[in-house]
Amino acid sequence: MSGRRLILRALIPGIALLGSSTLVAAGAPKLEGAERTWAFYCEGCHAAGIEEHPATLRLSYTRSPELAAIKGRQDLSPEYLRQVVRMGYLEMVGFRKTEISDAELEALIKFIRLPVPAQIKIQAQGEQ
Ligand code: HEC
Repeated sequence: MSGRRLILRALIPGIALLGSSTLVAAGAPKLEGAERTWAFYCEGCHAAGIEEHPATLRLSYTRSPELAAIKGRQDLSPEYLRQVVRMGYLEMVGFRKTEISDAELEALIKFIRLPVPAQIKIQAQGEQ
């Protein structure tokens, strides 16, 4: 494992914790299922907004500004998402089954590929 991979590994729990404590502090409803997996493992690097999210910034250069935020992207096939999450991709480390189980990964893939307005609807229903 290279030094850079080790540093990224070390940063992930911190980023995830930062994300979840912000959500709790804002009084957001408790997250469950794929929404929670996304918030805990992905959002810290991949949420919309290139200022705060390193993966979104990087993808805005290597892909395009339209493809920078991965949530809601229809061009990311389930097979590709599965492979990137398990194996990692360039600067991104992969996640083990002890971190994200196969069932959690399948739910996460469906969540990521939902058009963003549908995700907002699901979140709104969750608050009822
Ligand atoms: C520590 C930061 C970090 C975390 C956490 C992270 N990623 Fe990434 N991800 C990146 C970076 C950086 C890239 C761009 C890779 C590059 O160009 O070096 C990337 C790339 C990707 C890509 C490729 C997008 C494309 O256009 O091909 C996908 C898909 C992806 N990540 C999904 C996820 C998912 C799903 C999670 C949560 C399970 C996650 N990532 C967690 C940093 C992260």
